[in-house]
Amino acid sequence: MGNKIKLGVVGDPIAHSMSPMIHSQFGDIAGLEIDYKSFHVVESDLDKFIAGFFADGGYGLNVTLPHKLNCVYCADILSSEVQLLGAANTLSKNSNNQIIASSTDGIGLIRDCSEKNIEISNKNVLILGAGGASQSIIPSIARMNPKKLMVDNRSPDKIENLLEKFSSFKLQPFQDNNEPIDLLINATSAALSGAFHWNIQNELNEETIFYDLSYGKESAQFFSWASQFSKNRFDGTGMLIAQAAYSFELWFDTFPDISNIDLSKAYD
Ligand code: ATR
Repeated sequence: MGNKIKLGVVGDPIAHSMSPMIHSQFGDIAGLEIDYKSFHVVESDLDKFIAGFFADGGYGLNVTLPHKLNCVYCADILSSEVQLLGAANTLSKNSNNQIIASSTDGIGLIRDCSEKNIEISNKNVLILGAGGASQSIIPSIARMNPKKLMVDNRSPDKIENLLEKFSSFKLQPFQDNNEPIDLLINATSAALSGAFHWNIQNELNEETIFYDLSYGKESAQFFSWASQFSKNRFDGTGMLIAQAAYSFELWFDTFPDISNIDLSKAYD
């Protein structure tokens, strides 16, 4: 027991995290003895917790809400993606005991889209939401060269901030009477407050693919709204597994087979 590789995820709340279930399956696949735990840590304790985790022999740590921004200040080295985003979801330690912050959310989404044959290159993509979840995927989507990459948000002022932050990418605000949307990504947390509705109609049709960054029961409201347009609906389970696999690869240099990960127990 004592010799297992110490990994974990830190967040607040954390009880429903599926990361322990996913990573323990990755460990089995890779033949590694890992001990992946979830840690409930409030914001004011975050830096102390991270320093202590690695000082105590911790090998790798995932970071989830609401700590994705603040964990960056606990790292010694930031990947180029983290420098761009100002947020991270994976911490590791190098041979000089320096903490490295990386982000695997964006590439996780791209990987899942590719597994599902969801095309991005030369397609019209609309992202709903302008918060952390939206920001974490924008550069990765932009690098796939969509025809248009648009963003819409309940509060318009946040769109301006986003356009400024990602000015090196061709991000546009969504405007009515646009071309049909090929891929619509829900990056809002609207489902937490009940029914989902977005004031957009003409650009959506039966060909539009609806992709929710949330997953499981949390996608029900978004799916119900999307069902008036299209049957092409996906929740974020695939992205969740893929971003975890990229974290695992950062730690162990091997990308686990993600085709048979079983999350059924989590959805009971
Ligand atoms: P996250 O890290 O999950 O992205 P966040 O940074 O708090 O969380 O961002 C939440 C996003 O969901 C925001 O874009 C928010 O819109 P506002 O900027 O207008 O607050 C969006 N959101 C949350 N509840 C919503 C609702 N009921 N309807 C529409 N958008 C909502």
